[in-house]
Amino acid sequence: MIPRFNGRNFTSVTKEMREAFERDGILVLDHLVPTEKCDELKDHMTNTIQSFDPSEHASIFSTTAQTHAQDAYFLSSGHTTRFFYEEEAFGDDGILVKPLELAINKVGHAMHDTDPVFETFSRQSAFAALAHGLGLADPRLAQSMYIFKQPHIGGEVVCHQDATFIRTEPNSCLGFWVALEDATEENGCLWGIPGGHSGDMPKSLFVREGDGTKTITLDDTPYEEEKRLPLPAPKGTVLVFGGLFPHMSSANRSDKSRHAFTLHVIDGAAHYPADNWLQRPADMPFRSF
Ligand code: FE2
Repeated sequence: MIPRFNGRNFTSVTKEMREAFERDGILVLDHLVPTEKCDELKDHMTNTIQSFDPSEHASIFSTTAQTHAQDAYFLSSGHTTRFFYEEEAFGDDGILVKPLELAINKVGHAMHDTDPVFETFSRQSAFAALAHGLGLADPRLAQSMYIFKQPHIGGEVVCHQDATFIRTEPNSCLGFWVALEDATEENGCLWGIPGGHSGDMPKSLFVREGDGTKTITLDDTPYEEEKRLPLPAPKGTVLVFGGLFPHMSSANRSDKSRHAFTLHVIDGAAHYPADNWLQRPADMPFRSF
């Protein structure tokens, strides 16, 4: 069983929290984010979507479009706000076949630097205290995402480690997963493998290669998925886990959405390889809290 801590009025990482994080690979903090703040972020995202014109980018997602256009849209999203869709959101002609607010899979990957609402939220003192308290000497905010997990069509995310996608040497990736709505087994909450974060490298690396990307397998032994446990997260709960913690989520077949905000922080003292997919322009380095 993975312990749960009361995150209401959280100010610093206790010895018990740190021990749980080191043993299990994850720290669960209920009630860390007030309900009203969750609603504020959801409303802000709704407004952001309404100001977005999908036709500007639709051709990129046409099923007949060249893959390199999609790669370029993704690979240049590390310093701005981009919209990514559920599979089957577009027809062959590049026209959305669902209302935009129900077609989006996620928005990323730099709202913590480019959007004042998400910037303030991401740089809150509780997250800084968690990053420092869980061992990052010089925390830098690297990536943010708003994940929708749409009712009925929200897709499965297979078991993975975030250090596959955000690699430092040595590994220092720390993820904050914030439930903006109740995440349950019914609507596709996270699952994780407690204690599955051993070793010092992820099982695979997702890297840039030329104008595209590739995955390099380092360890082809399967994840011990029989040991996985559900991580239900009531609205306002924050899950904090390291880059080697194996986690996944099922498809959402329910009629309830499962909105979440994620933030990934790395240690500025660690090396950030140039083949990480997420690269910043020289004038926009990863900033601290
Ligand atoms: Fe993940």
